[in-house]
Amino acid sequence: MEKELNKNLLPQHVAIIMDGNGRWAKSRGLVRVAGHNEGMKSLIEIVRHTSDLGIKYLTVYAFSTENWKRSVEEVSGIFKLLVLYVKSELDELNRNNVRIKLLGDISKLPQDAYDSIMKAADTTSNNTGLVFSIALNYGGRAEIVQAVNKAVREGKEVTEESFSDLLYTAGIPDPDLIIRTGNEYRLSNFLIWQCAYSEIVISPVYWPDFRIAEYEKCLLEYEGRDRRFGGVKS
Ligand code: FPP
Repeated sequence: MEKELNKNLLPQHVAIIMDGNGRWAKSRGLVRVAGHNEGMKSLIEIVRHTSDLGIKYLTVYAFSTENWKRSVEEVSGIFKLLVLYVKSELDELNRNNVRIKLLGDISKLPQDAYDSIMKAADTTSNNTGLVFSIALNYGGRAEIVQAVNKAVREGKEVTEESFSDLLYTAGIPDPDLIIRTGNEYRLSNFLIWQCAYSEIVISPVYWPDFRIAEYEKCLLEYEGRDRRFGGVKS
């Protein structure tokens, strides 16, 4: 019999590297944007399920500082999907008390994508349920560099805690679990400060095929991990 999730052992913060959209599309003879399109359906399902499970924080890597190197069609396709996502999902997210947060330098986004994602963040800013952070034009090193520059400007010495407050993720606890789909074993510049003690689970499944059953497998794997944070088992 399949093992069941133990609600008491669920992570507080899940962060996901949604990888494999391009390979999913290629394996079907489709253009890459078709993979992102199907990936959006996975995202909708995973956000809903995370909220239903009562997990408090979900963070997804939607667009990295390196993703600008892709073709103009692919980049504009991803941002069009973002606009579509907000258009079709914002009401439901708001009804479900989800709060949308943004990580990264979003000032560089195309204007329509910037406007719609800002609207999503503003509309949901007082919600108290799932905190859903979307990393857009995000890079972990860029995040650290801007934090260092802030600290230098303020002329203050930092501690680990005060430094964390200068990151895009200020106020959000470090991820307990990082899931990467698409069978790649890298962090790709995602939450590189915050992941110091995160458990990492790699799913072989491409993101467009990553739905509830596969998600629960990853959560079960996490529940079986022995987290010691550098100490010894109690
Ligand atoms: C990585 O797969 C995926 C991305 C760079 C984009 C993620 C976008 C979505 C899931 C679409 C919905 C997004 C929003 C914000 C609504 P890849 O293209 O690198 O896949 P590959 O490794 O197989 O080439």
